[in-house]
Amino acid sequence: MPTDDHAVLRVRRSGPLHGTCTVPGDKSISHRALLFGALAGGTVEASGLGLGGDNLSTATALRGLGVDIRFVGRDAIVHGVGFDGLRAAAQPLDCGNSGTSIRLLMGLCAGRRFETELFGDASLTKRPMRRVADPLRQMGASIDGRSDARKPGDIFPPVRVRGGALTGIRYDLPVASAQLKSALVLAALQANGRTELREPARSRDHTERMLSFLGAPISAAADGSIVIDPTGWNGRLRAGRITIPGDLSSAAFVLIAALIVPGSDVSVENVLEITPTTEAMGEPVGTVRARACQLRGTDVSGELALRAIDEIPALAVAAACADGSTTFTDLAELRVKESDRIVAITRELRRAGVSVEEHPDGLTVTGRAGDPPTGGTVEPEHDHRIAMSGAILGLLSDTDTTVPAADIATSFPNFASTLRALGADI
Ligand code: S3P
Repeated sequence: MPTDDHAVLRVRRSGPLHGTCTVPGDKSISHRALLFGALAGGTVEASGLGLGGDNLSTATALRGLGVDIRFVGRDAIVHGVGFDGLRAAAQPLDCGNSGTSIRLLMGLCAGRRFETELFGDASLTKRPMRRVADPLRQMGASIDGRSDARKPGDIFPPVRVRGGALTGIRYDLPVASAQLKSALVLAALQANGRTELREPARSRDHTERMLSFLGAPISAAADGSIVIDPTGWNGRLRAGRITIPGDLSSAAFVLIAALIVPGSDVSVENVLEITPTTEAMGEPVGTVRARACQLRGTDVSGELALRAIDEIPALAVAAACADGSTTFTDLAELRVKESDRIVAITRELRRAGVSVEEHPDGLTVTGRAGDPPTGGTVEPEHDHRIAMSGAILGLLSDTDTTVPAADIATSFPNFASTLRALGADI
């Protein structure tokens, strides 16, 4: 996969986008392939890995814990050592921009009898960690973090985890969060006794799917809660091959670009899909095709909002180009992503001349339906999805849009070249 190498992207009004492309491997699944591969009782070959900065952060941190990981093109060869084979890191582990890395590693290290310090970049340093620390402390781990007088009670990176003998718990998650759930599953696999986790709504379930595939003692109870019971388990995940499909959250930028640029017709192959044509490790996979059309405003809330949480910045661009207004609600979690995405989307759309109303848990976007947005300079604030959203909106503008590109490599290193190959002036 080629990696773009531009400090700044300049985007201009583009003619129709046409063709077929692929996108990097799913970021969430790639993190898990690396982490769970490290816990296998042998070698795991993960193919089609996303090689964005976030996934590389997970790989680097695991190497710090003594795991041998090699990359060959888009494949990773992970020499699993099992939980017991992990070693204390000589230095604090740098999780970069990646909330998934730091939170899942907190859960992993909570069961190890050594101390681990985890830190990240300016964006990650502002993200709340108490949601993970509280239940891990209940299980028996000792966790400290930086406090912030403006947000009393919470903790923020750097965090220090002193793992120990854990005991299983019954726990109602205060937020539906796959990162939190996955951290607790990783701790629960190392605990004495059974753990039962209940979410207020179902977050993405890649952890459950992949761990079941790899033979971990995890199951769903009749009421939808997740049960982890390692009693009698040998503590090793199955070695073998993991195939990673394309990332629908990255594909969203390409597909929405095709929807909003008149005359476009683009297909993205091998992405996670609702109507699957095939399957990879229990995950549905298919081709998604988008043809330009006049979009209509709608409401996005509840389970749909939760499922599409990473796609909201791209969907807000679609909403900006629609006929009528779109209201996004039930999205308070957007405030604690790589940036406060409600603030960032509002700022960027307003800059482009779009009317946006901000709400505590979402926003209302009034579409411009055919009225071109204004170009300008996007301020991504270390948030890859804000950068890419600004770029695709720029495809409709009569004036240049300038996008600092560094953060895009977090998830979609070849974003610009993928769109350029489809005909975008970028
Ligand atoms: C992720 C979970 C989601 C998502 C994030 C990746 C994961 O966050 O926004 O980009 O890989 O577990 P939540 O923890 O809020 O579900």
